Amino acid sequence: MRDQLFNQDNDLVNFTFDAQVANVFDDMVRRSVPGYQAMIEMIGLSVKTYGQENTNYYDLGASTGTTSVAIGVNNPHTNNRIIAVDNSPSMTKKCKANLESVVDYADVICADINTIKFNNASLVVLNLTLQFISPENRQTLINKIYQGLNPDGALIVSEKIHFNDPHKQQLMTDLHLDFKRANGYSELEIAAKRQSIENVLITDDKQTHFQRFKTAGFNTSTCHFQCLNFASFLAVK
Ligand SMILES: C[S@@+](CC[C@H](N)C(=O)[O-])C[C@H]1O[C@@H](n2cnc3c(N)ncnc32)[C@H](O)[C@@H]1O
Repeated sequence: MRDQLFNQDNDLVNFTFDAQVANVFDDMVRRSVPGYQAMIEMIGLSVKTYGQENTNYYDLGASTGTTSVAIGVNNPHTNNRIIAVDNSPSMTKKCKANLESVVDYADVICADINTIKFNNASLVVLNLTLQFISPENRQTLINKIYQGLNPDGALIVSEKIHFNDPHKQQLMTDLHLDFKRANGYSELEIAAKRQSIENVLITDDKQTHFQRFKTAGFNTSTCHFQCLNFASFLAVK
């Protein structure tokens, strides 16, 4: 369904992943996040490289299940479980429905990812989710993921990022707005969504991500994809 949530001059409330958003989410994310499809394709590649037999794959903030589906259709390993977690009941309902026809080894859990215990993991994905976790809880979450990963396992984190250089920040913001305009969002929709989401989606810069991976104990971390102000990081244990 096409995202038209912000095309009327309604009273603005803080953005939440409720039933209205879940209904249009797939359209919204593709028209709002430059490089979204490439991020998903790279997650599909990563399960081939970093997935291990007899292990768990975690998809944190799974939304409608696009990441879990990519993991499922590309997984060449055996005896795995996909654990897809989201705290929005509307999202988990859609996620379950989307995964049902693809894999028979997925558990879809409606829960706060901060409460999840990770174990025997070879791949953990936070695709556009960490940015919605309170900044003070982010290090604890990444530490827990590191502890639950097997040696040679990987964490993928995709996020909207900001730049400390004001000129670069402006450049990327302007190009991102152009991307949204090119995808059919009006000035009203862009401004309304921005106001609704600005207290909810809190970005980090690249350095903060790298420092967090290092503090958690990851040996290697790199930015393996970037399109404008959206980046994907790969951290390997
Ligand atoms: C931008 S969406 C993620 C997109 C999805 N990973 C994908 O690849 O298409 C962010 C998701 O994180 C979920 N979320 C936010 N905070 C959460 C939390 N504390 N625990 C679980 N899920 C959370 C939201 O409900 C939402 O579905």
